[in-house]
Amino acid sequence: MKKWIIGNWKLQGSRSFLREYLEEFLVALSVGGLRELDGDALRVALCPPACYLLEMKTALAAHQSPVAAHIAVGAQNVSTASDGAFTGEVAATMARDCGAALSLIGHSERRQLFHETDEQAAEKVQTTLAAGLIPVLCVGETLVQREADQTLTVIDQQLQTALGGLSASDWSRIVVAYEPVWAIGTGCTATPQQAQTVHAFIRETLDAIQRNQSAKTLVPVSILYGGSVKDSNAAELLAQADVDGVLVGGASLNANEFARIALAAC
Ligand code: PGA
Repeated sequence: MKKWIIGNWKLQGSRSFLREYLEEFLVALSVGGLRELDGDALRVALCPPACYLLEMKTALAAHQSPVAAHIAVGAQNVSTASDGAFTGEVAATMARDCGAALSLIGHSERRQLFHETDEQAAEKVQTTLAAGLIPVLCVGETLVQREADQTLTVIDQQLQTALGGLSASDWSRIVVAYEPVWAIGTGCTATPQQAQTVHAFIRETLDAIQRNQSAKTLVPVSILYGGSVKDSNAAELLAQADVDGVLVGGASLNANEFARIALAAC
């Protein structure tokens, strides 16, 4: 299974930060021994704010490091709409036009702070796929839901709604990220065992959805863990059987730490 290491800068960064960050990050990858990234084993992506997508893509494409051009750029969100009178929105096609290869969808901050629903996540998965981007669908329970023993029910619902309408050919382009809301930005990471339990459930659910869609063969989907991932816990999380990568927020803003996390996946 492909390992994905994705950095989510959220609403942070600037053009000068971006330039300095990429220099440091690429040096750290090279010093750490990562000199190739064009195979399928490891995928590294960075999701800056939308206004920096093109800048990041251009800087990576022009860089002399052999791995730079293989680092993907991702959007943090896209509109459900493809165009029209929707002030402030960015369409998936526009993100693609600015160099994005993927987009986070349904991040818990979008769900909680901007009241995004599972139905909107489903629409965004479709518009993302239609634009030729890989949707990285984020799912996860709140602390209240976990304590009420609703974790698996909540995740099942999020997956069924967002992915129930996929067509067979879309499955190979889907990535799912399990991000327990109580672990995001709190310093409180799920234990590797907690992550593994939910990841195994997500894998079963994704298979069940495909079976319901009468899939002839089940397509394996990469399932990433996110929530207070750091260089000190990445290796242990990545060692779990059903953890196919990590989605990193805060720690991805430190170029050296994010490089150490990527190196932990090699
Ligand atoms: P965190 O964020 O690593 O800062 O907890 C993860 C995320 O929101 O994707």
